[in-house]
Amino acid sequence: MDAQLSISKLTLAFGAVRALDGVSLDVAPGSIHAIIGPNGAGKTSLLNCISRVYQPSNGAMRFEGHDLSRVARHNLVRTGIARTFQNIALFKAMSVLDNVLIGQHSRMGLHPLPGASGLGRRLLDAAGAAVEPLASCLYFGPIRAREAAHRAEVEDVLEFLELQQVRRRPVGELAYGMQKRVDLARALAARPRLLLLDEPMAGMNAGEKEEMVRFIRETNRERGVTTVLIEHDMGVVMGLSEQITVLDFGRKIMTGTPAEVRVNPRVIEAYLGEDVTRVQEEEAAAGVSATESGAEFLTAFEAVPSAEERE
Ligand SMILES: Nc1ncnc2c1ncn2[C@@H]1O[C@H](COP(=O)(O)OP(=O)(O)OP(=O)(O)O)[C@@H](O)[C@H]1O
Ligand SMILES: [Mg+2]
Repeated sequence: MDAQLSISKLTLAFGAVRALDGVSLDVAPGSIHAIIGPNGAGKTSLLNCISRVYQPSNGAMRFEGHDLSRVARHNLVRTGIARTFQNIALFKAMSVLDNVLIGQHSRMGLHPLPGASGLGRRLLDAAGAAVEPLASCLYFGPIRAREAAHRAEVEDVLEFLELQQVRRRPVGELAYGMQKRVDLARALAARPRLLLLDEPMAGMNAGEKEEMVRFIRETNRERGVTTVLIEHDMGVVMGLSEQITVLDFGRKIMTGTPAEVRVNPRVIEAYLGEDVTRVQEEEAAAGVSATESGAEFLTAFEAVPSAEERE
């Protein structure tokens, strides 16, 4: 089947640093595709190119046949793509409901200054803007009507992500894991066909991670949303993904199934930062079985059954 998202020879540089160096990958429709790699490998940079934050210097990006490099950042959501952020980017003083409504507004193509609408007013308040006279002069009736019409979809997303209980609470008061879930809700409210998730599980405890994994899987299976997932937790990656692309120093090491990735010596080496065979030999000579983070990574690889093994 044709790729829904196709990235070809993408290059992005920050001065002398090549954040991306000729990266190519295809994401199949309806799949969960993980991007992994050590810190600074270029994972977020890749997501930032797809979501139009950065303009790559070379290469091509196509989404459902459209040239993504011609899509402006503010039109991304209308193209069918939504994302979450590595660092939570929500309006902390505003309620869960209002934050999710913002996602919906982006899809409707509304500038976040919808005149007399309640959300618009609260947005402006949150931004601390001294625009009271302006806001009171404007009254966008049709916008209000559309806001009402789309409200049901927002309610549906709140229901789906089990956020109804906290809908009126300011986001800043919620536990960290819950805030990450609100960020996911904001992205889903835009009804994307492609969802880009940058470390959705970072900083979560085991229980929160488990819940997030469930929501990502259900989003994919029940709503058919294709998902590109950046994640450091190998257990999560192995369990959720159909395909994994491994980056290191801006270059692609490989794309493959979890089973293929976990036995690739170059992948293991990238995480260990050294020649894995030599390390293992030294460990064997010293009578120890494993060391530090590399070993932790390998353990995660071995312990977790992949999606394909479980099915
Ligand atoms: N805005 C920027 N300005 C300068 N350099 C940048 C910028 N963004 C990223 N880089 C550099 O590009 C490289 C790739 O960074 P990127 O954030 O994409 O890595 P990452 O794989 O997401 O890492 P992490 O796992 O730590 O989030 C790094 O060397 C980083 O320092
Ligand atoms: Mg990153």
